[in-house]
Amino acid sequence: MAVEKGGRRDPVAAPARTDRGSANGGKADLVQAMFTRIAGRYDLMNALMTFGRHQAWRRVAARATIAAPEGRVLDLATGTADLALAILEASPHRRVVGADFSLGMLREARRKLRARHATHISLVAADALRLPFTDASFACVTSAFLLRNLADLPRGLREMQRVTRPGGRVIMLEITRPTLPVFSQVFGVYFHRLVPAVGAVIAGDAEAYRYLPDSVDRFASPDELIELMKQAGLRRPSYRLLGLGTIAIHTGVV
Ligand SMILES: C[S@@+](CC[C@H](N)C(=O)[O-])C[C@H]1O[C@@H](n2cnc3c(N)ncnc32)[C@H](O)[C@@H]1O
Repeated sequence: MAVEKGGRRDPVAAPARTDRGSANGGKADLVQAMFTRIAGRYDLMNALMTFGRHQAWRRVAARATIAAPEGRVLDLATGTADLALAILEASPHRRVVGADFSLGMLREARRKLRARHATHISLVAADALRLPFTDASFACVTSAFLLRNLADLPRGLREMQRVTRPGGRVIMLEITRPTLPVFSQVFGVYFHRLVPAVGAVIAGDAEAYRYLPDSVDRFASPDELIELMKQAGLRRPSYRLLGLGTIAIHTGVV
């Protein structure tokens, strides 16, 4: 495990290995390469695509961590560390570990954390499907926009459950398909047509921004995710919808 702390090992120099060669490894490698490709424009694209709402959604997820017992929070798939920073804002005393398997995203995160002197957050290169942490090592595990990228969602949920200690919380924010009549159709056109076009111009990567709506289409509904959470051993699973039903925040207790 490569942890950044006081300039010791560089998390960004040690790629997290995926299950290369397996069917799961195929998807993981594509996702890892894609996020490293778009890392430099990731924040700007988020701001444009969500009309600036993305940080407000992360703040709601961050506030949910306050109910977790004392102890460290693991922000899985931390990307450019926006949720990790929101958690720190909600609970300034917490230590947060941000883990991601894209070196490009971790580099952006490191730059941002240094600029903000966020010394309570450490970064780790790690694969969410085989976390380099012992059982029950965190009071809370969070993720934003990770789940639909996982090659093996049940395994990812089991890993989150495993590294969270009894009484701790698992909090997951993800895009979901809206069901409001009319709005869902407008959103479909926006998400499938406009977003890839903006992605082509701003991030130079239409493919990554075609993958985004396609991955949401293929992903579990909020109720299906509740079932998967139960199967992974998460208790009292629940969710709330935000952003006119385009965002779901699921919470479970270990
Ligand atoms: C859409 S970004 C979300 C980043 C950040 N959480 C946010 O709120 O903006 C998805 C992130 O998940 C990471 N990711 C996807 N699959 C992963 C895996 N198996 N292990 C670790 N990170 C993963 C990607 O590298 C990427 O940084």
